[in-house]
Amino acid sequence: MAGATNGPSEDLTSRILHSLTSSDPLLSEIAAPHASFVELKAALDRLASRSMVTYETIEKDEAVLEPEGEQIAANGSHEARVFEALRQAVEGLTVHELEKAIGDKTITKVGQGKAFKEKWISKTKDGKLKAATDAIQDVTREHVLIIKEKKTHPDPKVLADLKKRKLIKIQKVFSFRVHKGPKFALELAKEETDLTAEMLASGSWKTSTFKPYNFRALGADQSSGALHPLNKVRHEIRQIFFEMGFEEMATDRFVESGFWNFDTLFVPQQHPARDLQDTFYISDPATAHKPRATSPDDKRDYEQYWENVRAVHESGKFGSIGYRYPWSPDESLRLVLRTHTTAISAAVLHRLASLQGPNGRPPPARYFSIDRVFRNESVDATHLAEFHQVEGVIADYGLTLGGLMEFMDIFFGKMGIRNLKFKPAYNPYTEPSMEIFSWHEGLNKLVEIGNSGMFRPEMLCAMGLPSDMRVYGFGLSLERPTMIKYGISNIRELLGHKVHLEFIQKNPAVRLDKE
Ligand code: PHE
Repeated sequence: MAGATNGPSEDLTSRILHSLTSSDPLLSEIAAPHASFVELKAALDRLASRSMVTYETIEKDEAVLEPEGEQIAANGSHEARVFEALRQAVEGLTVHELEKAIGDKTITKVGQGKAFKEKWISKTKDGKLKAATDAIQDVTREHVLIIKEKKTHPDPKVLADLKKRKLIKIQKVFSFRVHKGPKFALELAKEETDLTAEMLASGSWKTSTFKPYNFRALGADQSSGALHPLNKVRHEIRQIFFEMGFEEMATDRFVESGFWNFDTLFVPQQHPARDLQDTFYISDPATAHKPRATSPDDKRDYEQYWENVRAVHESGKFGSIGYRYPWSPDESLRLVLRTHTTAISAAVLHRLASLQGPNGRPPPARYFSIDRVFRNESVDATHLAEFHQVEGVIADYGLTLGGLMEFMDIFFGKMGIRNLKFKPAYNPYTEPSMEIFSWHEGLNKLVEIGNSGMFRPEMLCAMGLPSDMRVYGFGLSLERPTMIKYGISNIRELLGHKVHLEFIQKNPAVRLDKE
């Protein structure tokens, strides 16, 4: 902004300068009624940065009355009110009558106790209350009135006592003492904010006053786009995968056939995961094509694969006795919203089976994906019907279960998660399978952080992978580490229509706690 605008801040600087001619030092109260502390300080800083004034900030404590203190200032202390009510009743009053006369139970009760202590009141023989003296001095009210007027009291003990009784509170007030500075003048010179071509051409720059740069000014907040926390954590986990030599799988297909989502993974067609309560089925179109090549370069024999999957389920193959049930092609061709990204892993491993490494066999490979999956679950604080899965697959010759555990240690270690515990588990497509747990300091218990295993030969051999190739697989949700990282306990604060935009804009860049 140019220096010579006529805004309210112009007014304020000008008022400060004019007031200084009549008194130096100047106390801030002069400008205070119309200017907030912040505006006043801004105006002073503006003048001080041009050496037109110097100033210091004075901080002092001020006592102000709480509502109860105000009441006492107006009507007298509780004990004085009790005394006054009794003084007027020559016969004395029952407690009930006294309450009625005062109109407030608490005031009556508190005031009664204090008035007894002061010996202002006493009890009659028939149990009534009466005044015990002709006149009293209401010291509390006197103190409160002094504070109301002077905002302090000469006796610190009085202040402390009234504060303890919650009749007053002490608050800080700031004021400024302002002096003329070496470049004091009554007007702020017109200040240029830009050096323009015209100023250079006319030479006016030589005599212009330039506005000093304020290097400490904070930029205005921009309402720009922001990265979602899930995106930030996803980014970090992706980096870890790349660092460990993984290749990213293309996950751009939310809709899969039952074949890829279940059958290729040796999930039997009666498995509860395939129920309507767990899986979303697509109604239009309801069925998929049979798996087939979609490009001329794809020379894989899909018919053979289809038959292998049927056989391994129905009658057994590749050394397995199978599940021994009539396998239904229709069931396999139903379209579903994918329930896990393992459907993608299956397709990628099927492609791996057709690749030839240096020795003519499929080469070792590492793949990962991080994307959305869908489950027909009832939504609550920790479950949504859709979430994100982080999934990794490692294919190599001569892999062992111990190697999978070591890999998990390294992988999660890079995310700052240590001391893993493994628990035997069951997945239709892996054997052995292990749930992965880690100790959560905050919750003080073991929490499940992932699921893993070695893919079964029923799945791998059907694809045509060599029988001595072993494949590790593991999965975890992206939401869990994100919620831990950002301290969120309800998943709906993270994902969906209830998320606060401000939360998305203001939250920090994530750093998984690495040492
Ligand atoms: N698909 C599993 C899940 O949904 C994760 C997993 C992937 C387990 C690969 C083992 C192997 O939790």
